[in-house]
Amino acid sequence: MNTVDDDELQSVVAMMTDEEKIDFVSGHGLWRTTAIERLGIPAIVMTDGTYGVRYSTTQIDSGSDPEAALSAFLAVVNRRAEDGGAGMFGDTHPATCFPNGNLLGCSWDTSLAEELGQALAAECQALGVDLLLGPGINIRRTPLAGRAYEYYSEDPVVSGDLAAGLIRGLQGAGVGASLKHFACNNSEIDRTNMSSDVDERALREIYLAGFERAIAKSDPWTVMSAYNPLNGVQSAESHWLLTEVLRKEWGYDGAVISDWHAIKDRSAAIHAGTDLDMPESGPRKARLRAALEAGQLDREALDRSCKRVLALVRRLAGKRRAVVPVDLDCHHDLARRMAAESIVLLKNDAAALPLENMAGKRILVVGDGAIRPTIQGSGSATTNPYRVDVPLDEIRALAAGAMIDFMPFAKNGGDFDIQIADVVAKAHLADTVLVFANHRTGDEGEGTDRSDLNLADGQDALIEALTGMGCRTIVALTMPDAVAMPWIGKVDAVLACFYPGQGGGAALAQVLFGTANPSGKLSTTLPARIQDIPGFHTYPGENGHHFYSEGIFAGYRYYDLRAVEPLFPFGHGLSYTHFVYGDLSVDAETVAPGVPVRLQFKVGNMGEVFGKEVVQIYVRPIEPGLKRPVRELKAFAKHALTPGETVTVGIELLPRDFQYFDTATGRWTLRAKAFAIEVAASSRDIRLSRILPCVPEPMPVPRIATTSSPAVVFSHPKAEAALKSFIVKRLKLGTGEAQRLLDGTRQSFLGFYDTLSWSIGESIPEAELAALFDAINEDTPS
Ligand code: BGC
Repeated sequence: MNTVDDDELQSVVAMMTDEEKIDFVSGHGLWRTTAIERLGIPAIVMTDGTYGVRYSTTQIDSGSDPEAALSAFLAVVNRRAEDGGAGMFGDTHPATCFPNGNLLGCSWDTSLAEELGQALAAECQALGVDLLLGPGINIRRTPLAGRAYEYYSEDPVVSGDLAAGLIRGLQGAGVGASLKHFACNNSEIDRTNMSSDVDERALREIYLAGFERAIAKSDPWTVMSAYNPLNGVQSAESHWLLTEVLRKEWGYDGAVISDWHAIKDRSAAIHAGTDLDMPESGPRKARLRAALEAGQLDREALDRSCKRVLALVRRLAGKRRAVVPVDLDCHHDLARRMAAESIVLLKNDAAALPLENMAGKRILVVGDGAIRPTIQGSGSATTNPYRVDVPLDEIRALAAGAMIDFMPFAKNGGDFDIQIADVVAKAHLADTVLVFANHRTGDEGEGTDRSDLNLADGQDALIEALTGMGCRTIVALTMPDAVAMPWIGKVDAVLACFYPGQGGGAALAQVLFGTANPSGKLSTTLPARIQDIPGFHTYPGENGHHFYSEGIFAGYRYYDLRAVEPLFPFGHGLSYTHFVYGDLSVDAETVAPGVPVRLQFKVGNMGEVFGKEVVQIYVRPIEPGLKRPVRELKAFAKHALTPGETVTVGIELLPRDFQYFDTATGRWTLRAKAFAIEVAASSRDIRLSRILPCVPEPMPVPRIATTSSPAVVFSHPKAEAALKSFIVKRLKLGTGEAQRLLDGTRQSFLGFYDTLSWSIGESIPEAELAALFDAINEDTPS
């Protein structure tokens, strides 16, 4: 992976003094690494974030005062999007605020993510930023999670593939990525102390899988370790996570950087594999120095980290480009296009949308979101948008002869009865009412989780009041993640815009009037009730431990397993055209170990307008022999089709796509009677399917003990013969009698020795049988 010469790195590190090494594995101020001029090593500059570049002029341009830096850092993390305006962004360079992760996730479009990466790289380079602290791909385990808006999906395949696209775009243009937050930072409640307690299958199959996938497909130059402890060990200090899994198993050789002030024990973090401690902390450096002087720090581990940081600096410094001005207008267009391709049409009864032939008709637009849109979430990822589309203006611009009225309705608070009565009075004159609704704000964003799924006060009552009046009712939702929709059965159409970024206003207008055909699909399940959220009964943890009680059944896997009807399922999204699927063919007769399976099928646009369809491939194990999700997404693709056009889609499923993680052997394992390969328009809309029998991998031979049940003992290929000859010799019986004795034990659920001793008393001591079983175990490779 690394292009930098290893011997050269080694020799430079060998020239560093201890003091230089300590400085070098620690940040310099908030956003830089430490330069060592004597050795010709420059500092690199890094900044957030995941959907836009947040360049703080006060923090980056004016050097480092650690005291001031901490308060400046906290001011950013703790600020709230609704504070808005210049106060929020006064010290931040204007940049493009692209759709947030929650909306980009709904694009299911890896090339769009790549374009985003390229655009972010251009903005970084114009500002002299070498490393962007993103993308973040923590699993959206609960819609209540404060940082859900930054992340892509509840599924590791969508998360990993979109992240890989973004990273390829970013790094291909010379700016480093930081894949974060590794791992299981899925809630903001006591986020640096609450241990995410996750069983190993869930870790491997869900929470680590997206990282593994993104790393394999895009080789991010850094990975950021998370704030939280994982199974009781601080993520930044987990040797298992950062060295055994990330480096040894996955072969990752980039640098690991800490989340900001995430390290509690610096020496432990060095031993575990967190190379760079960010940002600069005098006390942590002092403790590292003391540990080094006291001989308590492994010098080789310190040198390894120095080498990795040096490799990163070399790699980034070598990619710096002469400053090229960025075409921000072009990026604004990209932000609009991304939003238009990602907004999800959740419901569209009787083709209520798009709004066509509106000349002379009245459209009543209600809600402050139409004039003061919330385009992004709150926290360290916030971007200072250089320009923001105002939805109402964009609607007016596309309304083609329609009369547009606007009525405010407070995003939060106010006297609702009077406001609602005024809106209803006005709605009587309208052909269409478009309500801008949003989640209840104030408790979401970095640092806090939401406490419910509700809309802002008064908005449910407003929407209810507008239904049943004979006019078309359309709801456009702004939200970090799922919201409850008690009125869903009564409205005509609903658009989920999540946090659409600065181009969201134009994108929404285009979708409303049909100049863009919606092609986003949900990358998370929208629950019908808060109580249906997976793991709800153990969320958000207590006594410092948050047990992920749903295990591998994250997101739709949980709703499917428990046959719980969601409000809208994972993968759902409507279009103004319709697609048909057909002609599935598969190049294999079976699913066999180590063999990929290629499928082909056709998708056709049978409607009258251009559209894009996200096709989803699920694998459903049949009689897997252990608990597995009903179906799991394994691949997806997005195709653009003109009316009447049909495309042949080819997709390859890899051996891993059929396996589960076997915790007994620590290996990915293939085992099931068969697999259904499903081609779907959503996780609850399977269009084509093919069943292939499975050729399972040989199961490891069980270790047997005197306490194993007879069924387990007899499943061992060598046990029965060995036992028979042992009994013949030991009890001086004929082979027929010995066989009858053994057969007499078969039905027992008790331990083998207990069962046998019912017939033979204590004539064979347990220790003798144990020695026989040990010999059998040793003689059999596992
Ligand atoms: C966040 C990171 C971010 C860092 C620097 C932390 O609070 O968790 O995502 O990159 O701050 O702003």
